[in-house]
Amino acid sequence: MRTTIRFLKVTEKKQSSYLQDASILLALALLLYLHLIMEVLLQQIEQHKQAITGFSAPNTDALEAFRIQYLGTKGLVKTLMGEMKNVPNEDKRAFGQIMNEFKEFTEARYDALKELLDAQHVDASFKGFDFTLPGDNLPLGSRHPISIVRNRIISIFKRLGFAVAEGPEIEDDWHNFGALNLPEDHPARDMQDTFYINQDPAWLLRTHTSNVQIREMEKGHLPIRMIMPGRVYRNETISARAHCFFHQVEGLYVADNVSFADLKQTLYFFVKEMFGQDVKIRFRPSYFPFTEPSAEMDISCLICGGTGCNVCKQTGWVEILGCGMVHPNVLSNCGIDPNKYTGFAFGTGIERITMLKYQVKDLRLFSENDVRFLNQFTGAI
Ligand code: PHE
Repeated sequence: MRTTIRFLKVTEKKQSSYLQDASILLALALLLYLHLIMEVLLQQIEQHKQAITGFSAPNTDALEAFRIQYLGTKGLVKTLMGEMKNVPNEDKRAFGQIMNEFKEFTEARYDALKELLDAQHVDASFKGFDFTLPGDNLPLGSRHPISIVRNRIISIFKRLGFAVAEGPEIEDDWHNFGALNLPEDHPARDMQDTFYINQDPAWLLRTHTSNVQIREMEKGHLPIRMIMPGRVYRNETISARAHCFFHQVEGLYVADNVSFADLKQTLYFFVKEMFGQDVKIRFRPSYFPFTEPSAEMDISCLICGGTGCNVCKQTGWVEILGCGMVHPNVLSNCGIDPNKYTGFAFGTGIERITMLKYQVKDLRLFSENDVRFLNQFTGAI
């Protein structure tokens, strides 16, 4: 019994050590095989590199063939990348780097071949071309009349020291109405019905650029001498004289001792610069909730020279802007002390000025983008 047991023990021991030896051998063989794979892959890559360097693409078909063979979804680069799974773990990093380099190498070669081909095409299309011939005339296009007039207005006011300020077209109720002394349910809101955003009626499309005046005054850096050009919106029936969107330039001057005389002189200068020295001006008392006193300014009709015609409805005058002294409530709504500071404000429609300046009879032309209309402004600045 004893010996049997011993014998058995010896056999187990022997068997297990054979097994161990065998598995070590197997592991070694596998390792060798795997390293061989890596070796073989590297050799292959080297050979492919030589082939790639030697590749020439005399036409676009050959270039495309190169792309498919090497860089396509079933191309060599992708296939070799797929060999990663056979590379032993400790070599994966090195192999990955080699493959990346190989990919970049192949892509660079592709780019170079393409460039060469493109250059040949350019050369071919210029063959026999006489470079001493005069060039073709390129149509320059023209600025939109609204832009022409807006720029003109800006440059006139810049000479008087007015800076340009801009602000949002989508506005909240306070900056478009509330701060301008137009509380909710104020009847004057009817004059400027607008478009509200369904999801949140607290937001609306601004009806004038006065919202920028409020935003500038809120900043509290006095004095303020600014003009505010921009697009505005109103819920109006579209006709030859009105649209649901148009452009305005408003102006604001707030400082010590600003008076109505300053307002008149500023606008006087503007009109003469814009329409010429012979234009006459008149102010009519008017009403705006945000100015007090308020006025509307007319200029003598440019079409008939003041004798009466269709444009001025036989009156000899056309209205071009609204203006007035900034209402004390507006100043205090923006944190400015109305006992210390005064200001004037004005607002005009760019379409209106453009129609008068260029005798355009229908405001809709400005937004139709008809080149026959727009072409007429070529050369105007
Ligand atoms: N905001 C006015 C409008 O759009 C124009 C205006 C501006 C009038 C400033 C007076 C003072 O109708």
